[in-house]
Amino acid sequence: MTDQPTQPIKKRTFSGIQPTGNLHIGNYLGALKNWVDEQEKYDNIFCIVDLHAITVPQDPQELYRHVREVAMLYLACGISLEHCAVFVQSHISAHSELAWLLNCVTPMGWLERMTQFKDKSAKQESVGTGLFDYPVLMAADIILYDAHYVPVGEDQKQHVELTRDIVLRFNNLYGETFVVPEVLIPKAGARVMGLDDPTSKMSKSSDKVGHSLRLLDPPNVLKKSIMRATTDSLNNVAFDRENQPGVTNLLGIYQAITRRSEEDILNEFTGKGYGHLKKTVAEAVIATLEPIQQRYYDMAKDPATIDQILKENADRIRPIAEHRLLAAQQNLGLRK
Ligand code: TRP
Repeated sequence: MTDQPTQPIKKRTFSGIQPTGNLHIGNYLGALKNWVDEQEKYDNIFCIVDLHAITVPQDPQELYRHVREVAMLYLACGISLEHCAVFVQSHISAHSELAWLLNCVTPMGWLERMTQFKDKSAKQESVGTGLFDYPVLMAADIILYDAHYVPVGEDQKQHVELTRDIVLRFNNLYGETFVVPEVLIPKAGARVMGLDDPTSKMSKSSDKVGHSLRLLDPPNVLKKSIMRATTDSLNNVAFDRENQPGVTNLLGIYQAITRRSEEDILNEFTGKGYGHLKKTVAEAVIATLEPIQQRYYDMAKDPATIDQILKENADRIRPIAEHRLLAAQQNLGLRK
């Protein structure tokens, strides 16, 4: 016996990012930065969800390049492999297999209610079954690893709630099989809006110049986009989403980077012009992204190492997923 307190077992988190390229400062400040700041508290799994990406058409020549890009950005932003596994969804076939089993207990009506499906399908001429089924695959991702927490943005909350409903139904029909996960919405961290249109969220898919601040944009591009950001003619620096969305967006970015209070930030800018605000925000953004870009381009020199990391991480966690899949197969009567 020792009188050393035993290490509490950390709860598991699971989250995913689609490898569609163009990760931007909204993804960083709204998600990645929080994951990095909180990573020591949990046992984390971060998945690059390539099977989700193909629910809408992707260029096969680009897809794996984007997978690697996301992996390198995760690491460059400070995700530590000591606390986190980073792997590619399609490398663990249990995701697809469990998704099928869950399909068979998920009523179509539940999926028809998903707002993201309604939005995304409205934009496609031909809607694949995969797009409709997307939340079921997401449920499989989460519950294969007994994740307690799912750190995501507000827009994914409905999918995590659906996951809970699927788990409750499965457990109820076939016996306790899966952990019921909870969504974890970051307290700090900004909802970053488009610089050209501060009333809609910054988007990965927009390629309009001056819309987003991509994590890999060179400093002069970052600066230019911020200097030409839409503001207003009130000439008053205030946090006021409704009447001054552009100025508020810039202040929000600055606040998320500096983690300072609103009051403190207003003290810095009151009485100064928008030009000064933009210049200060640009400097802060560049100072944040430059070291990330440096680490990214260092890693990019050696893609074989990234591929190796992704393989090792998948190999390490695959047994967890296979164990839970087998339990589901047994409870359904597919296996003895
Ligand atoms: N649907 C998520 C998004 O677009 C990505 C995702 C896939 C995910 N599987 C997940 C997030 C599991 C959290 C947990 O942002």
